[in-house]
Amino acid sequence: MAFDPHLYRLLHTGAPGDIDFYRAQCADAQAVLELGCGDGRVALAIAADGPRVIGIERHPGMLAAAREARSALPPAVAERVELIEGDMADFDLGRPFDRVILPYTTLYCLDPERRQRCLSRVAAHLAPAGRLAFDVWVGDDLRARGAFADEAPEWIEGLRDGDTIIEIFERDVHRPGRMEVTYTHQIARPGEMPTRSAYTITHHYLCTDELDGVLGAAGLDVLDVWGDFDGAALDDESERMVVVAAAR
Ligand SMILES: C[S@@+](CC[C@H](N)C(=O)[O-])C[C@H]1O[C@@H](n2cnc3c(N)ncnc32)[C@H](O)[C@@H]1O
Repeated sequence: MAFDPHLYRLLHTGAPGDIDFYRAQCADAQAVLELGCGDGRVALAIAADGPRVIGIERHPGMLAAAREARSALPPAVAERVELIEGDMADFDLGRPFDRVILPYTTLYCLDPERRQRCLSRVAAHLAPAGRLAFDVWVGDDLRARGAFADEAPEWIEGLRDGDTIIEIFERDVHRPGRMEVTYTHQIARPGEMPTRSAYTITHHYLCTDELDGVLGAAGLDVLDVWGDFDGAALDDESERMVVVAAAR
């Protein structure tokens, strides 16, 4: 989890439609748990609709950003949000939740063993009619390609952060079941020599044919899978799996 939270948040801003999807999923919920809540962008939006929301986050910098964002909310909303530093593969909150959510490929932060522990903890924390909702990218094409690596970092985006210009490059290394993504930021501040900052994130990905088995092993049944947040069917062209599951 060694990444600069400021640089991370500049690049990783969510997927189109994801907040509305999770808000709709939580519309009739009283208690929501978000695992890996990051800077709170989803948790705080859900709390604004009425539910109480607990966010668990392991990165202290991301948690600090979430707490700062919470402090800017109206007090009646802010008091519905609890932000806890913790590990989503190992938690016991001692109470049930109507919804547990993992937006924005958060499940892929965990290796297969820790992913199973996480999903088992999810099953244990769901209220009788509770639901798990998460979204991840589809791993099928990468699994089919096997092990390979980008030869060189590829430019992916240029960003402006105040008067600082940041060029971002990405290099991916693919292994069976996982992708290691290295982001290199070239940071140019006015009047200073450019500097570089890099971090690597490992995605332990899932394929469409693994969903039922992985969730089933944790005592969860898949109720719905879509190919995007608008309810599009999951098919060979889908880049995303949007999943809703329940405890057995
Ligand atoms: C892809 S980000 C998503 C953040 C947030 N859910 C969102 O949609 O904006 C994944 C987040 O999970 C956090 N994370 C990774 N592993 C974790 C763990 N074991 N326990 C808790 N948080 C974790 C990361 O620090 C990061 O903030």
